[in-house]
Amino acid sequence: MFLELTRPELVRTQNLIDGKWTDAAEGARYPVANPANGERFVDAANSTSADARAATDAAARALPGWRATLPRERAAILRRWHALILANLEDLARIMSTEQGKPLVESRGEVRYGASYVEWFAEEGPRVYGDIIPQQQRGKRMIAVKEPIGIVAAITPWNFPLAMIARKIAPALAVGCTVVAKPAEDTPLTALALALLAQEAGLPDGVLNMISASRDAGVAAVADWLADARVRKITFTGSTPVGKHLARESAGTLKKLSLELGGNAPFIVFDDADIDAAIAGLMASKFRNGGQTCVCPNRVYVQSGVYDAFARRLAERVSSLKVGPATDDSVLIGPMINARAVDKIARHVDDALSHGARVLTGGRRLTELGPNFYAPTVLVDASEKMVVCCEETFGPVVPLFRFEREEDAIRAANDTPFGLAAYFYTRDARRIHRVSSQLEAGVIGANEGAVASEAAPFGGVKESGYGREGSRYGLDDYLSVKYVCEGGLD
Ligand code: SIN
Repeated sequence: MFLELTRPELVRTQNLIDGKWTDAAEGARYPVANPANGERFVDAANSTSADARAATDAAARALPGWRATLPRERAAILRRWHALILANLEDLARIMSTEQGKPLVESRGEVRYGASYVEWFAEEGPRVYGDIIPQQQRGKRMIAVKEPIGIVAAITPWNFPLAMIARKIAPALAVGCTVVAKPAEDTPLTALALALLAQEAGLPDGVLNMISASRDAGVAAVADWLADARVRKITFTGSTPVGKHLARESAGTLKKLSLELGGNAPFIVFDDADIDAAIAGLMASKFRNGGQTCVCPNRVYVQSGVYDAFARRLAERVSSLKVGPATDDSVLIGPMINARAVDKIARHVDDALSHGARVLTGGRRLTELGPNFYAPTVLVDASEKMVVCCEETFGPVVPLFRFEREEDAIRAANDTPFGLAAYFYTRDARRIHRVSSQLEAGVIGANEGAVASEAAPFGGVKESGYGREGSRYGLDDYLSVKYVCEGGLD
């Protein structure tokens, strides 16, 4: 066995369709690699459109029964699922660290974070209220009822193998939708383990169906869902180009979409900020998952009065981060997900250096640790000419841009097609309100770097997508509003 687990049977390498664990229709498999050494450690089902179709068939059969269950009956299953996720926390964390590379301490945190969405939606599901509209005409009564939208296709990324799929599936199930899901090709195992626990929690057959696939095969599988009129909603977290592709291709059947896409988040430090708090906030938000997070600050703007001191103190903190394989308990930064990711980081740093940036710490691959490691890096004298300014690096690199006036920082922060998260640090209460309202982002951290919570609405504006996950708003994307007009009542 490739890793020590209390319950080795949590490692599933087949699809879950209609309550049965099955091989891909064509019998194909693809290798899943450990990013710490680049070596394949397991083969997973390589699904194609036939498997996607079988999953949709199962979800369609299960839908009438599931939507007819009482919200509290669905909530009871979600609560059991939540308890099972926590009971298997250590195994799930080990599976996650092995396939994704994040340090164990973070994987354990992600299991709790993902489980919190399941608990939250178990609680919110029974509170989906409609409206009785105040009477407008004699003899008529107007009612707005919220109904499950139908079959939901959930397509999830590799950077949060448990939390992203949990926060899509849980609200869908809570309101009575059935689900077909495909986790990212790099990290299918955590999601499949989660599906097994949902089964153990008593979820009826066909309500949740999950298939795994390699990058190429996955495109064909998802194409089947995009074209299938029975799938009424796509929920996706990932890159903006893929989000646009899903929007275009699902237009033929006019599906509802929620898209949580690229970020390029700004992080602004004003002269009047509490510098210790700003550094702590930046460390927490930037280096979570080694910088491979959509809400990670990508561009750090520091006002000129504190620029040099901030850069020096930040570099001291960053140079002390321990890098290594995720399964070592003392490590804070693991490997990047794959070779493509490290190549992109190296390209961004090289480009910044060629345009005048200087390295305060890091700035190199750590090949002595393995193929996919990159040193946590601080760059000073960053400018708008650099790729780090307009593309998400998705790695442990902090470029520091200098600014003079508040309006310059806001203009630069908003000068991007993206708008997922934005952060700023200041002690001025009036500035907190002013800057919060001017930043073009769906999530704002004002003197705070850790913004994620199951109780808060998460999602972007502009080309970072639409739809909200978490909170009471997170149910709306899985519901449609039906208007019932009762006549002849006089
Ligand atoms: C993401 O990177 O897309 C999700 C981050 C989070 O939930 O905090």
